[in-house]
Amino acid sequence: MTNGLYEHRRRRIQEKLEEFREQKLGGTIQHILEFNKTPAELKAEIDKFVIGQERGKKIMATAIAFHYRRLAHAFKLALSQSKGNLEQALKATRTPKANILIIGPTGVGKTYTAETFSQQVGVPFVVEDMTKFSEVGYVGQNVTDILVDLLVSGGGNPLVSQLGMVYLDEIDKIAAEAVTTRDVSGKGVQKGLLRLVEGVENTFEVGQERITISTKHVLFIAGGVFEDIQNIVKRRMAKHNLSGEWQNFLMNEDLVSFGMERQLMARFPVKVVYDSLTIEDLKDVLARSADSPLLAYINDLKAWGIELEFADDALRMIAERAKQEGTGARGLISILHRVLLEDMYRLPGTFVGKLEVDRHYVQERLG
Ligand SMILES: Nc1ncnc2c1ncn2[C@@H]1O[C@H](COP(=O)(O)OP(=O)(O)OP(=O)(O)O)[C@@H](O)[C@H]1O
Ligand SMILES: [Mg+2]
Repeated sequence: MTNGLYEHRRRRIQEKLEEFREQKLGGTIQHILEFNKTPAELKAEIDKFVIGQERGKKIMATAIAFHYRRLAHAFKLALSQSKGNLEQALKATRTPKANILIIGPTGVGKTYTAETFSQQVGVPFVVEDMTKFSEVGYVGQNVTDILVDLLVSGGGNPLVSQLGMVYLDEIDKIAAEAVTTRDVSGKGVQKGLLRLVEGVENTFEVGQERITISTKHVLFIAGGVFEDIQNIVKRRMAKHNLSGEWQNFLMNEDLVSFGMERQLMARFPVKVVYDSLTIEDLKDVLARSADSPLLAYINDLKAWGIELEFADDALRMIAERAKQEGTGARGLISILHRVLLEDMYRLPGTFVGKLEVDRHYVQERLG
């Protein structure tokens, strides 16, 4: 009996999906509705791009796969009940969401991971700079700005936009300084964010059209360096005689000590700590990441008949330099550029063949 009902419902959903396909009602919606990647499958995709951060990627892959799977499922059910009215169905869809907070040093892949996930899931992605919030100090306007950004990122389709991800960059910069009087506005900004993260609906005019967008289903990922947060955690651990890696003990309480609002932190139940990249990681960013700046150069030079090859010790040297700079993987790009600039200028049109870069070559160019 239950099975029969289930079958019946499933068939109806299937029929509805067929209808959409025929009407070509948003390929993206279709795509999201059919999201069925497992956390492990999703992580395997991310691994091609993001080097290291194993634990963080695992936690994020799980949260994101569950979020979209749950959303797709609830949305499908609502669709069958609303006779295929997408807008109505999305309004009726209710799912809990698990927003994500990523803590970690600069240039180690916080924003990059979030963006890569959005690409793999196939949803809109926007980055919002939180320092802008504290400057303006008027949250209402900012919220509308974010919704407009989402709409643009969703190709103008409000339904697609509402299923996207918003990355709140430098969230630690809106921390209130508990003791000093420097920042009173931080608190206000954080309070304003509560509603956004929870779900706000705004209607605004775009040309002749009135468009309504809600953030109820938007997945929020907040990122920040949270300088010295480990000391706050370690102090608390010492007080309670806890031992182990501080990353495993991070709690809302610590973020509150840092200056974050308890209520806001409670809306980011998934906490991820990113590590600084090791020299080996940095080497892998060059040699293995699908987005590697080195691979880009290799392909560029191929077009001129130049076969660029980096010896292992050359990669290591660049990684070592980047490590010294302390800007994570960001340093790689500028160092690589410095190493190759001269030959990228000189060789095209004058040389065809193999260009082998070894440690000496790198040393010579970097001085
Ligand atoms: N773990 C990584 N694997 C591969 N590439 C990486 C990794 N981390 C950083 N990158 C590269 O470095 C760039 C900068 O990283 P990203 O923007 O994610 O830094 P971030 O952690 O958000 O730092 P910030 O706190 O300064 O915003 C990325 O666009 C990517 O090209
Ligand atoms: Mg960033």
